[in-house]
Amino acid sequence: MILVTGGCGFIGSNFILDWLAEHEEGVLNVDALTYAANPKTLASLADDPRYVFVRADIGDRAAIAALFAQYRPRAVVHFAAESHVDRSIHGPLAFVHTNVLGTATLLEACRAHWQGLPAAERAAFRFLHVSTDEVFGSLGPNEPRFTEASQYQPNSPYSASKAGSDHLARAYFHTYGLPVLVTNCSNNYGPRQFPEKLIPLMIVNALAGKPLPVYGDGHQVRDWLYVSDHCSAIRRVLEAGRPGELYLIGGDAETTNLDVVHTLCRLLGERRPGQDFAAQITHVADRPGHDRRYAIDFSKLERELGWRPRESFASGLARTVQWYLDHAEWVAEVQSGAYRDWVDKNYGARLGVAAS
Ligand code: NAD
Ligand code: DAU
Repeated sequence: MILVTGGCGFIGSNFILDWLAEHEEGVLNVDALTYAANPKTLASLADDPRYVFVRADIGDRAAIAALFAQYRPRAVVHFAAESHVDRSIHGPLAFVHTNVLGTATLLEACRAHWQGLPAAERAAFRFLHVSTDEVFGSLGPNEPRFTEASQYQPNSPYSASKAGSDHLARAYFHTYGLPVLVTNCSNNYGPRQFPEKLIPLMIVNALAGKPLPVYGDGHQVRDWLYVSDHCSAIRRVLEAGRPGELYLIGGDAETTNLDVVHTLCRLLGERRPGQDFAAQITHVADRPGHDRRYAIDFSKLERELGWRPRESFASGLARTVQWYLDHAEWVAEVQSGAYRDWVDKNYGARLGVAAS
């Protein structure tokens, strides 16, 4: 089987569902169940003998070592992380704890397991570290897109902690020969994304009649990728990527935040005729240190491994809006008291401050 960390989060849960739909091979999902996790997301797998869930923290060396010994996975796909930039601004240490120390601890447990394997299994073993384009910092409007040769220039506590974990993964390849692969992906969207991130937040706020809080002028650019395309890229890199290499993954879909929000309002308006969702758009105080533009050149992945995204941004957004309309119960479940506390913390002051 393969070991997936963070499989109860947004991308990890989509990855596990897609994996089990396409492979006979099983999955061991190791997740600490933080606020970002919803174990019910994978309830459909409860009776699938190929799926095992264990609640554990990647920073718990003994627990992770015991899982390696018991299940002897042939590969690790490492998603587990604190993933929200705004939360990293309010509380950076949790990000250092999980993303840096947690990844280091996981790598150590993995190294001990891997070094004890017979030669053929050791050669076939893979550790795929899932990272982000944010480690490369911010692009100007006319700068070329990020490539594997781009310099690391993280600007937020989140991206700095992810950069730290990327460097550790790289070091384990160079120092110990652990067969590490690193992927750096652009902004994902799609079903099962926690409504703290731009797209699901705008959908759930729009439907609830709440303000749609656009940070600053809303002209920041992100390169959006439908989550199942990210999952297919990871499967391909796991299958055929060269250890020690970085692979950038993107959607060829650079779009400003304002355009994303207006498109969501139009899609919702088509499904709820008579409602003017765009009237709810509210410019609020900007994110401190806000990166202006991310964009990915994924030609290495396309050239070497034949991967391209399949979903267009237009069709992916329409599918995403429909998923949230069809899953009101899932949305209600994740909007717990802790979620409402976060919304108050992040938006309370902002909604009183108009963007300059
Ligand atoms: P998420 O926040 O939705 O899910 C993270 C999951 O990790 C949760 O299930 C959580 O319970 C688990 N987790 C957190 N700390 C843990 C710990 N100490 N031990 C075990 N489990 C823990 O995140 P996501 O959006 O699905 O992102 C997954 C990965 O992909 C992250 O590494 C992130 O940096 C990376 N990434 C995300 C995006 C994106 O747009 N969402 C883009 C590129 C890369
Ligand atoms: O680029 C990859 C990264 O994309 C991942 O590594 C991160 O885990 C993921 O969270 C995402 O980071 P962003 O900061 O780009 O995503 P977020 O959805 O938080 O914000 C997208 C853009 O929308 C960003 O420019 C900030 C803006 N925004 C966000 C929120 C939540 C708003 O204008 N209003 C909001 O309420």
